[in-house]
Amino acid sequence: MLIRRRRSWEIAEREATPEALFVARRSLLKAGAAALVAETLWPQQLFAASDPTADLYPAKRNPAFKLDRPLTPESVNTHYNNFYEFSMSKDAGQLASVLPIRPWSVHIDGLVEKPQTLAIDDLIRRMPLEERLYRHRCVETWAMTIPWTGFPLKTLVDYAKPLAGAKYIRFQTFKEPKVAPGQRQFWYPWPYTEGLTMAEATNDLAFMVTGAYGKPLAKCFGAPLRLAVPWKYGFKSIKSIVRISFVAERPKTFWETLGPSEYGFWANVNPNVPHPRWSQATEEMIGTGGQRRPTLLFNGYGEEVAGLYKGITGEKLFM
Ligand code: MTE
Repeated sequence: MLIRRRRSWEIAEREATPEALFVARRSLLKAGAAALVAETLWPQQLFAASDPTADLYPAKRNPAFKLDRPLTPESVNTHYNNFYEFSMSKDAGQLASVLPIRPWSVHIDGLVEKPQTLAIDDLIRRMPLEERLYRHRCVETWAMTIPWTGFPLKTLVDYAKPLAGAKYIRFQTFKEPKVAPGQRQFWYPWPYTEGLTMAEATNDLAFMVTGAYGKPLAKCFGAPLRLAVPWKYGFKSIKSIVRISFVAERPKTFWETLGPSEYGFWANVNPNVPHPRWSQATEEMIGTGGQRRPTLLFNGYGEEVAGLYKGITGEKLFM
């Protein structure tokens, strides 16, 4: 990721009024006195409250997914996000409040029996929702723990009925430069894309996320649909997905296109393989006042996923 150091005279972006709050405030003022009460809420809470699938939350927790560390508080997590479509700063999630998430369609296409387009609420209601506690490790060396709600990606793969030639899945985020200021930066290869092998996608840990903290997914986390592949660096966990394509060739991803020597296709977490510009040996737990912990191989999920990579040679599996 691109890391920008703040000079001593600059105020932190979080100290300035985020554009999204300013815009939300103006429209609420127009809406009248009742809306003024709501104005004091954070925008992502406003949107979650009106979510058409709100009745599905909180979903039952799957006790198989346990953590070795405390959960990151929601108030911390919603104010420390990577969402380059909106900003390169960690306040990007707040700016994402302007993204319209209904109506929202997800296209399933490529090498499948029958390509189709699903309205997000139909898709979510078809899938078996559960809550899982996952670790999240960004390639920038920060980490969090999150109670995600969603469904195994394998359920969606089965539903899509891929053809024998499908070897990879390519995921794509929306492209709306009018709404997302980051997408007006033409030097980025928008839209954001990511990919998994079919074996990775059908591993039980690969999770399609529709909610967090017992509620429909907030926009800062990539509502209404994102991926969570917790054994890989966070950039693989693509947000706000609009297209899921089954393909024969390995897809070239957003970050791989930008920096192939720094961000590869596989991006499995490994403390012993440094990023070309920094060590990956330790990680900072966000919200703990700077506490660092040793990084875990496959982010602690080796038992579940190490087998996926047996016999793969000549590949940079940890970049
Ligand atoms: N997906 C999209 N569409 N755009 C992004 O900028 N950032 C990635 C990933 N998915 C990103 C994205 C990175 S680098 C990380 S670490 C995680 O989202 C951050 O997720 P979080 O903000 O929920 O912690």
